[in-house]
Amino acid sequence: MIHVPDTDRQYDIVVWGATGVAGGLVAGHLTEQYSPADLSLALGGRNEGRLEALVSDLTRRTEWNEIPIVLGDATDPASLQELAHNTRVVCTTVGPYTRYGTPLVAACVDAGTDYCDLTGEVTWIREMIDRYHEPAVDADARLVHSCGFDSVPADLATLLVQSHAADRFDTTCDMVRVYLERGSGGVSGGTLASMVELFEAASSDPLARQTLRDPYSLAPPGERYGVDQGRQRRPRKDGLRRSWTAPSPMAPVNERVLRRSNALLGYPWGREFRCREAIPTGTGINGATGASLIAGGLGLFTAAMSVGPIRTAISEYVFPDPGEGPTAEQVEAGHFTVRVLGRGTTTDGPFTVEAEFGADRDPGYGATARMLGESAMCLLADDTDSPLDGGVLTPASGIGAPLVDRLRDVGFTATVGVRTANQDQ
Ligand SMILES: NC(=O)c1ccc[n+]([C@@H]2O[C@H](COP(=O)([O-])OP(=O)(O)OC[C@H]3O[C@@H](n4cnc5c(N)ncnc54)[C@H](OP(=O)(O)O)[C@@H]3O)[C@@H](O)[C@H]2O)c1
Repeated sequence: MIHVPDTDRQYDIVVWGATGVAGGLVAGHLTEQYSPADLSLALGGRNEGRLEALVSDLTRRTEWNEIPIVLGDATDPASLQELAHNTRVVCTTVGPYTRYGTPLVAACVDAGTDYCDLTGEVTWIREMIDRYHEPAVDADARLVHSCGFDSVPADLATLLVQSHAADRFDTTCDMVRVYLERGSGGVSGGTLASMVELFEAASSDPLARQTLRDPYSLAPPGERYGVDQGRQRRPRKDGLRRSWTAPSPMAPVNERVLRRSNALLGYPWGREFRCREAIPTGTGINGATGASLIAGGLGLFTAAMSVGPIRTAISEYVFPDPGEGPTAEQVEAGHFTVRVLGRGTTTDGPFTVEAEFGADRDPGYGATARMLGESAMCLLADDTDSPLDGGVLTPASGIGAPLVDRLRDVGFTATVGVRTANQDQ
């Protein structure tokens, strides 16, 4: 079915949470990249003064002379209903989503409004799937979670690998490895608050703990099973890359998102599809030492954050407050590369397909703002190759290759090809 644009709605896109670190960057990206003639944009939030300050900054810097403001509060469902009914796409950075996100999702389902966000909060995504997937399918509302650094690079690079394998070898890869290869950037108080929320959920809610244990917890109900055993927790020598690898802190969300993409698309990558995400650390003793240090640090941090009083002390005295984040210089100077290797087999033997996905921008903020903003533009223009008209979706299953093209147009690298034996390290 084709989405018919709803011409009664006042706005094309509302950036909800525009006064925050990520929201301000999304608003900046959309106003720099698109003109008022092409896009009816509004900025939403709870603080009129801050929204006005942002508007005056953006109208000074860009060709936009005016940008409407939408006031509301995440704790006031009536304001969210009005917001969802007045716009075609809601693009939200109001987090932690576990704390603030559910009423907005409910309002978008009620209004049949497309929605995208930046959440990496696995336990909340699971709750949204269980509560809203079917109603969103019925309402033709596309709810696309994780449209930032979690999980666009991993999800879309895997899509590139699998599409290339299908075109070139007439089969897909039954195993995919995602490597966070290179990266530099900052972290905001809002992101750390969302992480704290995840630890809180895990400490108090048995379903949340079960969701974090089950590698298939984001798959559709009845399909929460498969061959993957769970994420990597220790240093490991990676046979595909011939390098040492450490566990990745983003694996808990990215791996589950890939499995959900495969399931929602009807298992084009096979029922036996396996995926793992890791950080490559090189070969030899240096590689092993690097992997041990990262694994040890991550283990210690997880152990500390799992203890209530330590968690409270760290979030109060160590983490920056919500609203604080990397400086403009850090955002500009950041960069990242995610590499995905997929291994498949034909009658002629095994093959490896490789995709590289990256940008010269801070991954969690400068690049994330582009990923989320362009996801919203894809939904608005119905620029997707997805067979799905509604539901709780992933970037690959809900939008797909058109998002890769749009990101290339705004400076991302996204390449794919067959990996030859001498490229192995
Ligand atoms: N996936 C990724 O790669 C990625 C990257 C970056 C961020 N994130 C996620 O994005 C979210 C936002 O991060 P951030 O750094 O931008 O956080 P932030 O700077 O703290 O911004 C949060 C925004 O939410 C608004 N807000 C808070 N409570 C509200 C309420 N009751 N009603 C309406 N608005 C409310 C804040 O408004 P005020 O200005 O009025 O306080 C602000 O605009 C976090 O969940 C973070 O984990 C994900």
